[in-house]
Parts: sequence; C-alpha cells; structure tokens
Amino acid sequence: MSDHLTVVDHPLVQHKLSLMRDRDTPTAVFRQLLREISQFLAYEVTRNLEMTTKKVMTPLEEMDAPVLAGRKLALVSILRAGNGLLDGMLELIPSARVGFVGLYRDEETLQPVQYYFKVPEDLSERMVIAVDPMLATGNSSAAAIDLLKGAGATNIRFLCLLAAPEGITRMKEAHPDVPIVTAAVDSHLNDNGYIVPGLGDAGDRMFGTK
Ligand code: URA
Repeated sequence: MSDHLTVVDHPLVQHKLSLMRDRDTPTAVFRQLLREISQFLAYEVTRNLEMTTKKVMTPLEEMDAPVLAGRKLALVSILRAGNGLLDGMLELIPSARVGFVGLYRDEETLQPVQYYFKVPEDLSERMVIAVDPMLATGNSSAAAIDLLKGAGATNIRFLCLLAAPEGITRMKEAHPDVPIVTAAVDSHLNDNGYIVPGLGDAGDRMFGTK
C-alpha cells in the first residue's frame, strides 16, 4: 500500500455507515454494524499481504495455488473504541496477535497520556494494524503510533471508520509512512473535537455509556 489515504467507498460500507450515523440506531445494532464494516476495512487494509503458492491437488489436477506467505500480523486496538473494530477483524484474521494501547487526554496540557500498553513482543517482525474508529484531531492516534514505533514496529497501518481532515493532516505530518484506511472523510471537527457530521462518541454509542 503506497497511498497515504484509502477511502473504502463500497456501497455496502457506505450504507452501513449511514445507519451508524443515525442517532436513533440502538447500541446493539451500532455494534453489529461496526463489526460488519470492520471486515470490509480489514479486507482493504490487508489487500497487499505477501503471497506465495502451494501445491494443491484438486479433483482434476495439481496446481500451484495462491496462499498467504505467512507474514505475521498484529492488530492493536486503541482503547476503548478500537475494540469495536477488533472483534470483527479477528474473525477474518484469527491468527493475528493482539495488542492494546490506552491513552487519555490530560485536561491541563491537552496532551495524550499513556495508561496502558501491552503489545506482542516481536512487533518489529509484524505488520501492525492499529485500529480506532474515529480519527479526529489525530493527537492520540499519532501518540499511539509513536508508542508502537518505540516498541519496534516499522510496518504500521492505521484503520479507522471515520476521519476528519484535521486528523489526516496531523497523521500525515507525524507519520507519513503509516497508510490510513477509512470508510469516510467528514467535513471538520467542532470546538469539542467531535467529527462533523460524524456519529457522536463512538465509545459511548457502542457501549451505551451515555
Ligand atoms: N471520538 C469520537 O468518538 N467521536 C468523535 O467525533 C471524535 C472523537
């Protein structure tokens, strides 16, 4: 993947995303839609996985059949909303290792502060897919990528559901080597850092906390 930004504009993804945006969509449906979309996004973010071939005997003849080269993968969920993307992706890539990054925003400095970090030990050998549904200011996403690089990751992709132009710019400046895959790029951020028109607080909507 060479382009910095890929927007997955598949009709099924766009339809499901519109259902998620609707404020009247209940929590359970929201979560299910996120799970479904995560698999389309996973399909796109893994598009360039290395392949090899393996001899397979079909009922008719032997062939060199394409199979994954077995390059190791790690999925890293940026807590807490990242978990909504993680489950569906793991169904598609069950052998992937999983990591978690927890960050909160310090109310005085407004900078992201790490409160949890647990990732596979051999991150430098893996393709790392960091997942967080909302790329808003990009501050916490960029900080999470800093932490992953600090842990040895050199091949990182960032997968989100919705992105704001501000977040894309921030990520491109901080991590030009990290391609972004998203379902949509919205208009802008409001004064509270919410994506507009967006879908509200993804964590609250998927866990029913508000
Ligand atoms: N995080 C969210 O959950 N929603 C936004 O709109 C921005 C950040």
